Amino acid sequence: MFYLTTAIDYTNGAPHIGHAYEKVLADVIARYRRLRGDEVYFLTGVDQHGQKVQQTAEKEGVHPATFANRNTKLFLNLWKKLGLDYDGWAATTDERHVTCVQRILTRLKERGELYKKAYRGHYSVRQEQFLTDKDRGADGEFGPEWGEVVEIEEENWYFRLSDHAEWLRRWVTSTEDCVVPDFRRRELIGALDRAGEADLCISRPKERLRWGIELPFDPDYVTYVWFDALINYISFAGYPGNDSDAADDSLPDFKSLWPADAHIIGKDILVPAHGIYWPCMLHAMGFTDEEMPTLLVHGWWNIRGEKMSKSLGNVVDPDALADRFGPDALRYYLVRDITTGKDADFDAERLVMLYNQELANELGNLCNRALNMTARFCGSTVTTGAEPDAEDQALRDSCASSVEAYREAMDRYDIAAALRAISGHVTACNAYAERNKPWELSKDPAGKERLQAVLAHLVESVAHAAVLISPVLPEPAARLARQLRLDDLLERKLDELAWGLVPDGHATGKPKPVFPRIVVDVVEEAAGTDAD
Ligand code: ME8
Ligand code: MG
Repeated sequence: MFYLTTAIDYTNGAPHIGHAYEKVLADVIARYRRLRGDEVYFLTGVDQHGQKVQQTAEKEGVHPATFANRNTKLFLNLWKKLGLDYDGWAATTDERHVTCVQRILTRLKERGELYKKAYRGHYSVRQEQFLTDKDRGADGEFGPEWGEVVEIEEENWYFRLSDHAEWLRRWVTSTEDCVVPDFRRRELIGALDRAGEADLCISRPKERLRWGIELPFDPDYVTYVWFDALINYISFAGYPGNDSDAADDSLPDFKSLWPADAHIIGKDILVPAHGIYWPCMLHAMGFTDEEMPTLLVHGWWNIRGEKMSKSLGNVVDPDALADRFGPDALRYYLVRDITTGKDADFDAERLVMLYNQELANELGNLCNRALNMTARFCGSTVTTGAEPDAEDQALRDSCASSVEAYREAMDRYDIAAALRAISGHVTACNAYAERNKPWELSKDPAGKERLQAVLAHLVESVAHAAVLISPVLPEPAARLARQLRLDDLLERKLDELAWGLVPDGHATGKPKPVFPRIVVDVVEEAAGTDAD
């Protein structure tokens, strides 16, 4: 079973384009693994507890639960709009999760992994957090961003993270592919080299924070939000949290799921949360090296080279984009214009340009002309019998090598390269049509056999493209399959793709534009560009 899971999104605000990217990427990978023939379990969800949610809710004068639920709905609606097909929904206020976190805490305490101690330190009242020397500015002082800084003493619960630091260093250093891409693994090793790990404070006194999971052995405290949130990856995968307890049967079977094959997160939450805390937590629970997840770390969408942020007012709203350009154009752009692992600049004009170029002008046009001419010149019948000439053979080779390039790119999560492989073949098909001019061949009865052969090559290529593009654009792929009248086309596995998906004598349907062009003045309006 291929277990794919993503970061769970903070519910202290509305979804932004970074959230949409990560979830579309995960959805594409899940659909691709199914196309590969794997059984897949895809989990995503929301991170609902913590200081930020409590604070923002207070500012709005509502209960944190009300506030978190309201934002949760925004995520759920967006995922529906974008056609995400996930199997499990990890919401951290879910009772099943709360129980699991508490059981894990109890178990870790029994194993001697947790202890309580008093800590005296600098505390930012505005940010409601303890500060360390790392938070001091160049002048050695705490900067104005922290507001009033006071020294306080507080008792809290700690996790013996430092006991696992040696193991972690050895595991990360010796396990290639535990973090993908490899430059992120090296970044993690660098962070481990720099910092001698301190123990991790995993509680917050209720006077400071109420919106969290209560410690089962000390009701004056709630669980630190990261310690709670990270556990979602196993709590919603059916982890019993206790040897003697049977798994909840509303959840999947943990043994067949774990470890995660792809644990998708953004670059900002690798160090320390997913690269340090999480593996150490699992190790403390008794997970072996073989039972550690594989992290797939993606980059960020920036805006004109700048980080997206509320204070800069440059946050891109995926919901509005999906309404303007359609969910398919947005899905396509989000995986087409970024290399997995690296950053990219979000640009609505490029979204329109890539969609119009690669989908409307190339793939859409290919489907349209292939089906139109098959209907008009061949009574909607595909005839495949003729021996391929050199040019036909070259087109078949182009098709086969696009499938190979696609598979190779998708296997290393390079969705953009996979899409370019599809486009490469589609462009070759349109050029083949221009050279062979079926519209001319149709005028001469002697050209009939050649005409049939040329159109059969075009139709066959559309069938291939529909299958290959289906993880990224499932709806349009289904429309292509329907127009081709190939009902079970999208049930094919990648290994079954070979020339001959469209049988001799097959009757094709009527073409209807699958990728209507996006008109440019809509872009200008969306990008907020002045007309003059
Ligand atoms: O970090 N481009 O939640 P989050 C691409 N709740 N990805 C981005 C991005 C951007 N501009 N901005 C954020 C959290 N992300 C925690 C996770 S997991 C147990 C808890 C990614 O809502 C970010 O890297 O701030 C993360 O993977 C995801 O969006 C959720 O971010
Ligand atoms: Mg597995």
